[in-house]
Amino acid sequence: MKGVKILGFGHYCPENIVSNVDLEEIVETTDEWIIKRTGIKERRISTGEGTVDLAYKAALNALENSKCSKDDIDLIIVATTSPDKLMPSTACSIQGLLDCKNAAAFDISAACSGFVYSLIVASSLIKTTGKKKALVIGSEVLSKIVDWSDRSTCVLFGDGAGAAILEISENDDCIISTCFAADGNLGEKSLVAAELKINTPFISDNLEEKRYIEMKGGEVFKFAVSVLPEIVRELLEKSNEDINDIKFIVPHQANLRIIDEAARRLKINKEKFYVNVDRYGNTSAASIPIALSELFEKGLINKGDKIILAAFGGGLTWAGALIKF
Ligand code: ACO
Repeated sequence: MKGVKILGFGHYCPENIVSNVDLEEIVETTDEWIIKRTGIKERRISTGEGTVDLAYKAALNALENSKCSKDDIDLIIVATTSPDKLMPSTACSIQGLLDCKNAAAFDISAACSGFVYSLIVASSLIKTTGKKKALVIGSEVLSKIVDWSDRSTCVLFGDGAGAAILEISENDDCIISTCFAADGNLGEKSLVAAELKINTPFISDNLEEKRYIEMKGGEVFKFAVSVLPEIVRELLEKSNEDINDIKFIVPHQANLRIIDEAARRLKINKEKFYVNVDRYGNTSAASIPIALSELFEKGLINKGDKIILAAFGGGLTWAGALIKF
């Protein structure tokens, strides 16, 4: 039976730290409000680096941590909602920068669930197409599509990138169970960003472009607190695992209150959830791989440990994976 193993992770975030106090200068908000409602204390905001730049640096870090040569990579998938260009894809730009001559490359658009979606797609392709080593990246410069005059969204997001290297395994499969799904109707109503309009000589209306993230925060909050525990339950049931045998749950880092509420509903200790939203804010597709990279950097994951990834976001989308290292 063919499976996959994960060789390692890497991440990169812009150096520029923007604190809540810094945001008090930009919109009518307070450090106290942001911490109380979201748990976010600071975020990284690019001062020039694009989505490809962050993805490239995260990829180099993952290759180094995995002791893997770029020449062996034959599949590159980038999850992003904030690409620098619609074409070429971010993944193709990375393929070119790394000069991975044998790699197929494409992007996946599933917002904050994008990295977990990409992990599922990469592992399926490795098992079925003869591809042997995949570079999977989540990279976002959300600051490009944030409305910096809207206090209800601009305080939430940050920029960053995380990456993983997957390799074919002839015997074991470290990805024990997965789930992924979507609700497009709810997505249209609650969370939309950068809607491109048709402005051609063939129509008379001059349509105004919507560039920025527009979110009904309360709607997304309700969805998130219900779907996060569902993902965990579904993965445990599918793999016949007990929550007590899971070392960490790595949730999408959107809001500390969502994570706390999910822990309450699952009746588990909050400590089981890895949290870094206080330092990075919501980095969408990058949030889970940055958290995984940090967990490994801190030496908190050992061979045999089982963890759960649980993501939710625009689309609306959600996705999870139970992984044994
Ligand atoms: N500072 C001060 N006051 C604010 C701010 C701010 N930054 N933002 C909103 N407020 C005000 C509102 O105007 C409102 O004032 P009012 O009562 O006078 O009308 C009040 O605070 C309460 O606003 P709510 O929106 O009800 O606040 P809530 O407690 O719901 O928190 C939040 C808002 C943090 C956005 C929350 O709803 C949330 O986290 N939602 C989920 C977001 C999320 O998880 N997104 C993930 C997906 S993102 C993706 O996929 C790209």
